[in-house]
Amino acid sequence: MTPGPSATGTLTPPAQTRCPYMVVRNPDDVREILKRPADFSPANALVAVTPLTGPALRALQRVRFALPPVLASNDTDTHAGIRKVVAGYFTPAKVAAMEPRIRELAREAAFKAAQQLDRAEPVDLVQSVAAFTPAIVMLELLGLPVRDLVSLKRWGLDSMELFWGWPDETRQLELARSAAEFYVWIRDLVTESVRAPGRNLFKSLAEHGLSVSEICSLGYFLLIAGQETTTQLISTTLFRLLDGNAVQSWRDAGSEAGARSMVRHVLATESSVPTWRRVTSQDTDLGGEPVPAGTEILLELSGNSITGSFEAGPGARTANSMTNGLVFGFGIHRCLGAKLAELEATIVVHETASVLPGIQLRDSEPAWIRLLSFQAPRAVPVKYSVLDTNSQQA
Ligand code: HEM
Repeated sequence: MTPGPSATGTLTPPAQTRCPYMVVRNPDDVREILKRPADFSPANALVAVTPLTGPALRALQRVRFALPPVLASNDTDTHAGIRKVVAGYFTPAKVAAMEPRIRELAREAAFKAAQQLDRAEPVDLVQSVAAFTPAIVMLELLGLPVRDLVSLKRWGLDSMELFWGWPDETRQLELARSAAEFYVWIRDLVTESVRAPGRNLFKSLAEHGLSVSEICSLGYFLLIAGQETTTQLISTTLFRLLDGNAVQSWRDAGSEAGARSMVRHVLATESSVPTWRRVTSQDTDLGGEPVPAGTEILLELSGNSITGSFEAGPGARTANSMTNGLVFGFGIHRCLGAKLAELEATIVVHETASVLPGIQLRDSEPAWIRLLSFQAPRAVPVKYSVLDTNSQQA
């Protein structure tokens, strides 16, 4: 497939690209596939959508970048034990105990945004309220140092585009350099963490018997999946509340129940992870129809603009585009951060709408991140609404 930047500068599959995946939209089929990991393996979860070319590959090889299967793409029987170690850091009790901290961070960020607006400075809610709280919370839960957050956010977005986007050769090289930098940062952090006092995820994984390369692979996935996806969910929720097309109004989101209900609505209709992949590990069948070994499958988990933008391939199944209860996956690989993501998104949206009641969009058509499995507005620029400015002056 040839890559092609869209008019808004985001990367999307070029028009009329024949879909290289068997697209599965029917929720019953999606659930069935996720229930049968022996037939429908997650081994392709982290495979680059656009095959990496020479210069990009060399940039990665130079730092010995490798993503051996450990968690999301692990279809062997080591998965369960590793998952248990990671799950220990996100138990319901640990997530619930983080609530006051999440609220503190969210409120602080919203107040800072209000101060910027008071000084008539430009405010982008993605940067000011959505970006950093999930990253800080994740690092604190994992027992890792909270540092280099600006780089962490950039690396996460670059790696998402490298592995789930359609970058051309020049862009691939830029993204691969960023991914290599990120990987080196993770390896240094792993070396430091296994020797650090106290408990942290990397140390627990080393004690479980994982090699440095396996811990780096898990870290690379988790330090992106564990925060950028939540940032993107928050960004879409804030944008939809402000663009006037939401079931809830901005005012409704000022109550916790209103914010929660809007977050759930966005998860169902345009989640930050709208699709996920599987590949058949052997000849099998789905709903009585044969599916040959090696078939790459794209599962629709939520509304999105990607599955519809491909020209339907011969294997496409298009029974139903709305999916319920599958946004965080299903079965043995179901997302370990589902509760945390929903809690964070609800609190950030609630605090932002409470602290900034009188705002409106400054740009109602921002560029969007549109990757195979990730979507969100890149920016949510806001200003005080005219009404609110008048009431402040009165
Ligand atoms: C809105 C935010 C998020 C969404 C929509 C999301 C969605 C997903 C999806 C669709 C999967 C694949 C599930 C499958 O293959 O069945 C997944 C896996 C995973 N997610 Fe999330 N996720 C989010 C946030 C998080 C957070 C905050 C964390 C951790 C703090 C996290 C950790 C994981 C892990 C560890 C896996 C792999 C689990 C395994 O393979 O056993 N995610 N997520």
